[in-house]
This record gives sequence, structure tokens and C-alpha cells, in this order.
Amino acid sequence: MASASISKLTALPARVASRLQWEYREWRTPSRASFLQEELDHAILDAVAWTPCERVLDVGCGTGVYSRKLVEKQLNVTGLDLSAELLARAAATGLPLLQASGEQLPVADDSFDTIFCHKTAYLFAQPATALVEFRRVLRSGGRVLLSTSRTRSPYALAQAAAIRLSRNRDWGFNNRLGPGAWIALARTAGFDVRTVYSCNLVAPIVFRVCDRWIVPNEWMRRFNRALRRGTGWPMAGTRPRLLAQDFVLELVRR
Ligand SMILES: C[S@@+](CC[C@H](N)C(=O)[O-])C[C@H]1O[C@@H](n2cnc3c(N)ncnc32)[C@H](O)[C@@H]1O
Repeated sequence: MASASISKLTALPARVASRLQWEYREWRTPSRASFLQEELDHAILDAVAWTPCERVLDVGCGTGVYSRKLVEKQLNVTGLDLSAELLARAAATGLPLLQASGEQLPVADDSFDTIFCHKTAYLFAQPATALVEFRRVLRSGGRVLLSTSRTRSPYALAQAAAIRLSRNRDWGFNNRLGPGAWIALARTAGFDVRTVYSCNLVAPIVFRVCDRWIVPNEWMRRFNRALRRGTGWPMAGTRPRLLAQDFVLELVRR
């Protein structure tokens, strides 16, 4: 694993480097459990089918939070991230780690069964290139699990406004693709959609202010459960649900 710090990665465009600095500050502290995270965790860890010994590349692994959870499922995990600081923390997992961009993978063709890309896809400046790379390193019939969010929901717009008001210029996206746009790009890149996991139905009226949820977690947890029961909408489907905020796309290499 290379050990250069982000600040020394002068080859990166300033916008990407500044975004990475923010990522490091935000992600070095353990994230707070929230009802939003719980639904996503359920989708990526429990609802998705995992086969023991699957070779998984965790793209944007950060400190290895999810790499660890995947190892508990007896999977062969390799972590990959742009940030040397975060990878240094992920080293405690003892897993193979690569410092690279998801848009340019230093990995041979056909070498993984699954690409796991959680909460990182919005950081790709060239999302189409990332998908082509994902396809290249996957075996035939391999899959991508890609988490994405709606960008024009009331939740996303309120969050964007809160960020503007707080003048936190570091927080941002390198692309603004929602689930529909990712699906269209993935089809062009040579993937079929197997399952769409729609998470966090109408979570959206609340957002984080000064690191606090303005509606208690437990209320939102109950609200989400009641809404899912009321609408009869299971989490797994073939298309993004209208009222959901977050999605996990299971894309299969053609
Ligand atoms: C929001 S964090 C998510 C970390 C981890 N997947 C998780 O859910 O705990 C996004 C991660 O993507 C990494 N990242 C940003 N741009 C990247 C790129 N182009 N290729 C690979 N990793 C990238 C950041 O360094 C950071 O670790």
C-alpha cells in the first residue's frame, strides 16, 4: 500500500483533493448509528445473497468498516481507497489493501466476483469510466453492489440547502447521479439490473443539523416500518421506489 498522504497527491484535481480531505475528517470518527444507516445495512448485508469465499473488492473502503462486516460472512475481501490516511486505519483489518481510484483499478481482468461500492459512487468524477473498470475486473456473471441516493428529493434538497447555509464548501458531490441515471449508465457499460433495494421511504423530511437528528431516530424507525407495511412495498424490487431516498443497485455483468 502506498503511504503518500492526500495532501501530497498533487496529481489530483484540487476539487477532488479537497473532497478527500473532508472525507478523511468525517470518516475518521465512527459514524453515528441512524435509522437511515440501519435500512441500508439491512439491504447490503442481509437482503443481498452472499456466497462464502466470494472474492469482493470493496471500492471506497475508507477505514474498512464494511470490509470487516464482509469478512465476517467468510468472503475474500480486498479494500481499495484513494485516501492513504483512511487506508492506514483500515490496515488493522489485516486485509489486502490498494490505494487507487475506483475509476482506474490496478487489478487484472476477471479477478473479482463482486464489486462492493458503498457510499462512494457520488465521489466519482467519471462515473461511466468507473463502471467500465468495474466490468473489466469482474468475472463473467459477476456483480456490482452500488449504493446511491436520490438527489432531487425533499431530503436531498433540504440537505443541500443546509450545507449552503452552513457554508461548508467541503461537503459535496463529484457527480449528481441518482438511481435512474446509474442504471442507464450501467446498461450502457454492459450490466443488467438484477435487484434494486429501495431504502428509507420518505426519510426525507428530516436531516442532520449540527450533527443531530431533528426527529428522534426511534420515531423515524417506527415511521419507516409502518410506511413499508402500509404501502406493502418490500425493499427488493426491479425498479427504484418513488418514495425511497437511498438505493442499492445489484448490477450483473453481461
Ligand atoms: C463516504 S466514505 C465511505 C467509506 C465506506 N465505504 C463506508 O461506507 O464506511 C467514501 C470513501 O470513498 C473514498 N473515495 C473518494 N473518491 C474515491 C475514488 N475515486 N476511488 C476510490 N475511493 C474514493 C474516500 O476516501 C472515502 O473513504
